[in-house]
Amino acid sequence: MTADHSPATRTIRHDQRRSRGLLGRLRDRWSEHRRLEDHRRLEEDLRGLWREACTGVGLCQYIPMPTGVTIRTPRFGALRSRPGVAFSVELLPGGEPDDITAHADRLAHTLGGHGLRIEPLAGRWVRVMLLRHDPLRESFPLAAMTTSRADEPVLLGRTEDGTSLAHALADAAHLAVQGQNGAGKSAFTYGLLTQVCAAPDVLIGGSDITGLVLGRAWDDTTHRKWQVTGTKDLAAHAALLDTLAAEMDRRLDAMPPRQDKVRPTVQNPLVLVVLEEFPGLLRAAQAKDKKLAERITSTVLRLVSEGRKAAFRVLMLAQRFEANAVGGGYARDQFALRLSFRVPGESLVMLHGEDARKLGPTHANADPGIAYLSAPGHELVRLRAPYLGSYGEYCDRITRHGRRPDQTAEGWAA
Ligand SMILES: Nc1ncnc2c1ncn2[C@@H]1O[C@H](COP(=O)(O)OP(=O)(O)OP(=O)(O)O)[C@@H](O)[C@H]1O
Ligand SMILES: [Mg+2]
Repeated sequence: MTADHSPATRTIRHDQRRSRGLLGRLRDRWSEHRRLEDHRRLEEDLRGLWREACTGVGLCQYIPMPTGVTIRTPRFGALRSRPGVAFSVELLPGGEPDDITAHADRLAHTLGGHGLRIEPLAGRWVRVMLLRHDPLRESFPLAAMTTSRADEPVLLGRTEDGTSLAHALADAAHLAVQGQNGAGKSAFTYGLLTQVCAAPDVLIGGSDITGLVLGRAWDDTTHRKWQVTGTKDLAAHAALLDTLAAEMDRRLDAMPPRQDKVRPTVQNPLVLVVLEEFPGLLRAAQAKDKKLAERITSTVLRLVSEGRKAAFRVLMLAQRFEANAVGGGYARDQFALRLSFRVPGESLVMLHGEDARKLGPTHANADPGIAYLSAPGHELVRLRAPYLGSYGEYCDRITRHGRRPDQTAEGWAA
């Protein structure tokens, strides 16, 4: 094969390049035109659907006119189709962004999406973002991280807008976690405990009738002797809780002057009292000996009502946080940080108040690991808890990082 470089051939090639350039530009313009046309059509469709959806959910005002009644809905501004579908909306007179948030799911479904996110823009305008699918549908792994102090925050989960929510055990809050079978309560607790198990000023004790959260995985650690598992010896659960309450009393009695709370230290570590499936422990104790159940109930009531000042934090897990299942309404009121994995609507309202009622129907079918969280000064927020991937991974991390007896001096003994 040979190459031909004569001037005539070069001219033909040059002309071909020019005509290809022209064609390319025409093609570009045409596709730009198509894109603008598609954008305009989508904008018109959404404008119509938005109006219908707002009218359908009652997010509208009826204005009497001489000619009849006019329906006014929050005005659709302009579509921004990249990245994702978002459009601007002018609030109704007297309206607030919350009015749209309150109907977000139904509006989104009419628009063909999963949900809406509302962000304030300037003045009376907000940006409405159409979420095509649940931003929490993917699980996410928990990096192998451990805290070195009780006042370091631990990761609780990730919210719909990708924010990581964290909490320091040293903050004065007991934790309540509820959820039906398989909703993710234990997996959440595995994640939490792996993060704090190495801190020299944290001690993880408690009662676990299942023997999976506490117990064997902790065998070589400092924490193990403050843990009781199984249902064979229920009196041992009551005895451990009594020991913990006695230590709480000692700390309260020994409180230095001009101080009203114990700051966690290596000598007086923050004691995280884990009560896995607490209603199950109470039921088992009741079936055996009513007095034993009463003893457990009253000790736990003391730990939750007086423990915060003495650097005690209770993490209670239950399928439902019904008052009589968790030691009474007063005991339940002591939990400031509340997490609900998949639960029936009534249980959600029970722990998070009336505002949560509208979320009930959807959350009753939530995937494992998805929860609502409420905390003082924090609005109710939906999150996905991080996931270790397997129970074996939990055991490995506790074995690897769990604080060993010789790593710190223990200031007190059972
Ligand atoms: N955050 C998560 N991300 C992904 N999958 C999860 C998550 N949490 C839990 N799961 C899945 O759900 C399963 C059940 O979770 P888990 O054992 O924590 O439920 P539970 O609420 O403790 O149930 P039970 O009341 O039966 O003890 C896990 O084995 C895992 O497959
Ligand atoms: Mg469990």
